[in-house]
Amino acid sequence: VTLKVDASPNLARKIPDVLLGVFFEEMGRGGAGGIWAELVSNRGFEAGGPNTPSNIDPWLIVGDDSSIFVETDRTSCFSQNIISLRMEVLCNDCPAGGVGIYNPGFWGMNIEDGKTYNLVMYVKSLKTTCLTVSLTSSDGLQKLASVTIIVAGKSKWIKVEKKLVAKGTNRTSRLQITTKKKGVLWFDQVSLMPADTYKGHGFRNDLVSMLLDLKPRFLRFPGGCFVQGGWLRNAFRWTETIGPWEERPGHFGDCWNYWTDDGLGYFEFLQLSEDLGAAPIWVFNSGNSYNDEVNTTAIAPFIKDVLDSLEFARGCANSTWGSVRAAMGHHEPFPVKYAAIGNEDCGKKFYNGNYLKFYHAIREAYPDIQLISNCDGSTGPLDHPADLYDFHVYADAKTLFSMTNTFDKAPRTGPKAFVSEYAVWKTDAGRGTLLASLAEAAFLIGLEKNSDIVEMACHAPLFVNDDIEKKWNPDVIVFNTWQHYGTPSYWMQKLFRESSGAIFHPTTISSCSSGNSLAASAITWQDSEKRSFLRVKIVNFESDVVFVTISTNGLQASIDVRQSTVTVLTSSNVMDENSFSNPNKVAPVKSQLFNAAAQMEVTLAPHSFTS
Ligand code: AHR
Repeated sequence: VTLKVDASPNLARKIPDVLLGVFFEEMGRGGAGGIWAELVSNRGFEAGGPNTPSNIDPWLIVGDDSSIFVETDRTSCFSQNIISLRMEVLCNDCPAGGVGIYNPGFWGMNIEDGKTYNLVMYVKSLKTTCLTVSLTSSDGLQKLASVTIIVAGKSKWIKVEKKLVAKGTNRTSRLQITTKKKGVLWFDQVSLMPADTYKGHGFRNDLVSMLLDLKPRFLRFPGGCFVQGGWLRNAFRWTETIGPWEERPGHFGDCWNYWTDDGLGYFEFLQLSEDLGAAPIWVFNSGNSYNDEVNTTAIAPFIKDVLDSLEFARGCANSTWGSVRAAMGHHEPFPVKYAAIGNEDCGKKFYNGNYLKFYHAIREAYPDIQLISNCDGSTGPLDHPADLYDFHVYADAKTLFSMTNTFDKAPRTGPKAFVSEYAVWKTDAGRGTLLASLAEAAFLIGLEKNSDIVEMACHAPLFVNDDIEKKWNPDVIVFNTWQHYGTPSYWMQKLFRESSGAIFHPTTISSCSSGNSLAASAITWQDSEKRSFLRVKIVNFESDVVFVTISTNGLQASIDVRQSTVTVLTSSNVMDENSFSNPNKVAPVKSQLFNAAAQMEVTLAPHSFTS
């Protein structure tokens, strides 16, 4: 097989600076119980809804029915989330360890020796009472940290703030609040955050660092169908996710069927984009859910809501909504330059009508914002104006591999493509196989080639908490309370991390036999020290070794061949996956390329991605 890289300047083309990014959706506990570091689940006792009695899951009692009685009532000091927990201590002679309540977090809390945890809670008591707040093992026996709090019996809500410093490590700890005194108390908005989060912004350090390593140029958020909701009443409403965390009502995301306290809200998504150095892409609800729609004649309040969201992000600190952002600690605007009008809503009865209303209103107020339509424009022109169109694909490995050429024939005029969700799924994908990553790599190579009209692309979904029962497979990053690993799709994406903004050079594969199971591309770029690099990426999708002669002509910059490396992503079995016990089973292996030259021989391992 020969692979010719033509690096002549007249054929070179700049790839968009924003080509590759990440798509965060609140699914698989990626946010609440994931990258958002809050350790208490259902911190406001709101998850069962506003009616009483309400479900306080996963809170449980310390003690038994004869010593303690808990129920929800509507006496909270927070008007938007009115439910609080009423706890009645029944025992005169309470057990030595006290009775009370505990929260196991999201399948346990990761408490680490020497680390500090910030506790905030709101409490009210009829009588002056002594409370013990502690971090313990899941059975309550091992005490890792503890503070004593005297609550004055004033029948008035008080805010308690304490630091708990752990003396020991336990990955599945719980937070418990106990007392030995008979009486009645109320609790609300109980939060426990590790003191050490990314830049102090509330994100789990280890998971942010995985994202940073991908060098994402954009962050699409907050969904996916999380934006739509099964029903509009459960859709993501940005206004309810901003401001003081204690006052956020939270909501039940009925697309992925779990409650979120919305600690990770609209502001935090914008903050995360900034922290990643990624352009924010705000996917807002277009007046559509899976089961209901807003008629275009009634869409005006939704439009006002979206314009408000843009003012929140971009407005001056003295504007109505910009001042709310500034009060949250971000005086400078967030540079929102992209907004998607809905998610997967094309074809719904009122989508087109609603779309046009959103489009014109936003265009008038923010002419520089690139607007994204849900309708696929890859096979023909759209019947409405748009800057970009969404393209989603979930397919088996063979199909996705064959889609390497999908955009070759897409219209070169009109809106550009935003491949905002792509992945191999179902049988070929397992929980993240090498096979899936190879097909995805070939598909991405096709997007690089067509990056004159493909502006952006991101894989879906991004995160999954391994402890949840029902998982979407596969995901890019798998985690539990304290561990994480990248699936082969993660490592594959890492090998594309220099592509955004690089220079693309055409490649030609000539072969008598294996040409159809190879996909290749070549880019050059400069690092911050102005050193030039050439990267040739080749997917070998077949089960045999392939010998390739790579020849490059027309290179302008001098490449230091002594620094050349070859990185290979492969494994002994194409269905191999990573796991917590073997996180690098399928991970790139880098070595020096001794024969680097304008013409060189390279051996491609069976089922491999070589770069
Ligand atoms: O990525 C998972 C889901 O797939 C998204 O929520 C939705 O947009 C798509 O159908």
